[in-house]
Amino acid sequence: MLNMIWSGKIIFAFLLILCFNSCSDIATNNQERIVIKPPVANCDIIPKPEYISADPGFFQLNSSVVIVVDDRFSTIQELNNEVEDLQNFAKNKLGFELEQNSKLSNNPTIFLSIIPYGLLADEAHKIRIDSNILTIEAMHPSGVARGLASFKQLALLNEFEANYFIPNVNITDTPEFQHRGLLLDCSRHFFSKEVILKYIDLLALYKMNVLHWHLTEDQGWRLAIDKHPKLTEVGAFRTEMDGSEYGGYYTKEDIKEIVAYATKKHIEIIPEIELPGHSQAAIAAYPYLSCTGNRVDVANDWGVFKEIYCAGNDSVFIFLEDVLTEVIELFPSKYIHIGGDEAPKVRWEECEKCQQRILDNNLKDEHELQSYFIKRIQTFLNSKGKQIIGWDEILEGGLADGAIVQSWRGMEGGKEAVKNGNQAIMSPTSHAYFDYDLKAIDLEKVYSFNPIPKGLTNAEEGLIIGGECNMWTEHVPDEKTLDSKVFPRILAMSEVLWSASDVKQKNYTEFNKRLQKHYTILDNYNVHYGEESVPMTYFLKPSQPGPYMTLYPYDSTIQLKYKLECESCDTNFIDYKKTFRISGNFHTKSPTL
Ligand code: ACM
Ligand code: ZN
Repeated sequence: MLNMIWSGKIIFAFLLILCFNSCSDIATNNQERIVIKPPVANCDIIPKPEYISADPGFFQLNSSVVIVVDDRFSTIQELNNEVEDLQNFAKNKLGFELEQNSKLSNNPTIFLSIIPYGLLADEAHKIRIDSNILTIEAMHPSGVARGLASFKQLALLNEFEANYFIPNVNITDTPEFQHRGLLLDCSRHFFSKEVILKYIDLLALYKMNVLHWHLTEDQGWRLAIDKHPKLTEVGAFRTEMDGSEYGGYYTKEDIKEIVAYATKKHIEIIPEIELPGHSQAAIAAYPYLSCTGNRVDVANDWGVFKEIYCAGNDSVFIFLEDVLTEVIELFPSKYIHIGGDEAPKVRWEECEKCQQRILDNNLKDEHELQSYFIKRIQTFLNSKGKQIIGWDEILEGGLADGAIVQSWRGMEGGKEAVKNGNQAIMSPTSHAYFDYDLKAIDLEKVYSFNPIPKGLTNAEEGLIIGGECNMWTEHVPDEKTLDSKVFPRILAMSEVLWSASDVKQKNYTEFNKRLQKHYTILDNYNVHYGEESVPMTYFLKPSQPGPYMTLYPYDSTIQLKYKLECESCDTNFIDYKKTFRISGNFHTKSPTL
């Protein structure tokens, strides 16, 4: 067996050069209270702001700084969440308290301001920093919150011996897309409340604004529903192949706490309640929901399962309306994601009730029956003031007015939706599936994503409201693995969706240089980030008495070391310089990294 490691030391050398160039020199400062001169300023915010310029000097962030909320155009209370968030950040990440004052004084001040003019989008904001006062202004609290995300990054990027020197910058920033999401599948594997709260913090830090929370599946039903308690008593637990029990669910109290936390951070949580497919856990709890009524177990392997909700049985719709009524009470979002993907029709083809429904409603086939199913649920949700989002299969058999299509089997579904006048969210398997490994979707591939496909009119382009990265968790059993899949790729997605998505305005090399310093920030947030790409590829040339092996690092900054594992082999790593021969009894299938 061959083992290899790579080192990123040279990447670090590049980083320092970049820091110096990207911000102006701030080594001079007219504030006497400054005793330490930071070496260089770093303005490498991700996602990249629309406009940023730097002046000499910096704002020193420490416990003498006070927070003041501008009360000219809003009440002070309107920004209570943002003040609290800032205070928590200072306490938990920087290690000191920040006081709030009611009026401006000579103290160095962070001034948060709601203004009634000048910025259009909800999350748009301006930041002005001139040594003694750091102003963040926006027309809405969500804009102030996004400005605070840039502020937090600037603080952490400019830490020097536990001092924080925020460079004097001017920023004007606004998002390109209104919907910037992460789908998190908590059904295939369950993630604790603490993990969800950590992800909400990280989404906010990188200006993502949607947590699409996948809560029901064949392998587990994860939210408590009072009227149907077996959904969690039975549906939240499965017996694994090895006989062990696996499961868990969120109580209503958990969900309320998570939603309240997200709301304070201006992150919208959109729950996904899958129907008519991916519903075996619910059917395990209540077998009458299926066409056969037969008892099934909560699934313990992966794939697409044929037990789905019966479309001919009115009790199924009564059940789903009960469930959705409780879901609506928990989630304030105007959207409910109803799934709609991967629903095999074999049970419907064999079911008398389903066939009768097709006849009674003059439907052509089971695809139109799926459309009937979705439209019936949509009518119910619309009557409660909610709009539906569904995977692109909801196009089959006729798309309901007002439904938002989430395009995953490529871009075509989204394209068809907007041509039909519906809105679309783009998360194609080609760029947005973070469960795929780095061979298929590496950081650069994510960065190259453009949610706007070719061949649309301006009006149609405007119906593409944004994109999501999809984090399915069949092979993600724990938080560490989850982090390594999501990070750093989500930083590329955040820049695609917040900053320019058009390839002409993007520069991967420049983004990648900015990214390097963010690993310290991710460490600070306890993120077990993964690699940016497959660190190396290799080539084996057959030969006697053993093959020649050539290693190709992903880029020239990566230094490869290897060691051969055999009884008589050297146990130390060897610097890779050139092609080498593996002689002797070579029997590995492939090298392991
Ligand atoms: C999906 O990946 N089945 C939406
Ligand atoms: Zn049926």
